[in-house]
Amino acid sequence: MNVLGIETSCDETAVALVEDGQKVLASLVYSQTDLHAKYGGVVPEAASRDHLRKLPLLVKEALAEAGLRWADLDLVGVTQGPGLIGPLLVGVSYAMGLAWAQGIPLVGVNHLAAHLFAHRLAYPDLPPPFLGLIVSGGHTLLVLVPRWGEYRVLGGTRDDAAGEALDKFGRLVGLGYPAGPKIDELARQGNPQAVPFPRPMMEAGLEMSFAGLKTAAVYWLRDHSGTPLPDLCASYLEAVVEILAEKAIRAARRFQLPGIVVVGGVAANSRLREVLPERARPRNLEVHFPPAELCTDNAAVTACCAFFRHKERAKDELLTLVADPNLALDGWS
Ligand code: KG4
Ligand code: ZN
Repeated sequence: MNVLGIETSCDETAVALVEDGQKVLASLVYSQTDLHAKYGGVVPEAASRDHLRKLPLLVKEALAEAGLRWADLDLVGVTQGPGLIGPLLVGVSYAMGLAWAQGIPLVGVNHLAAHLFAHRLAYPDLPPPFLGLIVSGGHTLLVLVPRWGEYRVLGGTRDDAAGEALDKFGRLVGLGYPAGPKIDELARQGNPQAVPFPRPMMEAGLEMSFAGLKTAAVYWLRDHSGTPLPDLCASYLEAVVEILAEKAIRAARRFQLPGIVVVGGVAANSRLREVLPERARPRNLEVHFPPAELCTDNAAVTACCAFFRHKERAKDELLTLVADPNLALDGWS
């Protein structure tokens, strides 16, 4: 079954063709970062217009790359939410029109579930149960996944997402947007103990908070102008990584899960990839990080999620699918 995946929930137009939820035939990601850079954040209206311009071109490009024709498509899967309503509507409307014209089924995909499907696509032989840690620019969630299609949110951030905390810090020290990858690189040359940044809400069960950390950085920068940038980055990143590692391990142990699956853009972080497995090992917890290109926003995971939703749950939402900017993960199947 050839599945076309479409993801337009924020500022990336992503299109992929995946065979049987398993074999990636093409996966294209067009980032609007340059468009929004001059505003210092994503402008929803500009994002919608750019998705509209780029999406049809990318679909044609993906078909050519995979060597497929329109008639070879068997299913369309599209991000239904959560995300920005304008960008979501562009993806959903386009997907609906295409599926209708081709006479094939259409399945909606929860963007957060799609992030978790990076694990299913990368490691089909490592099924749930597991603790999912979704860490991106927009979300930071701890999710109990007893089986595919069942999700229970156990905790998460009360304010900023982990990626957002990194991006905001990056803006303070002049690293541009998105700052995560640059902080990752600079931190490798710095001392993580150089600045005593706090670890907010460390005792608070499975809840997290990153806004206080950013405020601490503002005051530190005001009072200590001479701190080398690599030391600042290493110390700030260390605080973020320690909070994520501690909470994920706590959640996995509390629910007696055998392992942790880390997805979302921040899962690409090299320090998180070191610290979390190091701390999980003595507790007999396995940690899995799918390859970075499946962790950041892409449509291969959208297509994979759609394929299994259609196959295992007989979903077809051609006439009923609606975009939902606040779509929850809890209870979505
Ligand atoms: O999942 P994603 O591509 O998009 C969202 O759905 O948000 O995640 C983007 C986030 C940004 O905050 C970016 O700074 C962060 O992931 N990020 C990283 C790294 N690569 C991307 N953060 C830390 N280290 C990285 N290597
Ligand atoms: Zn995402």
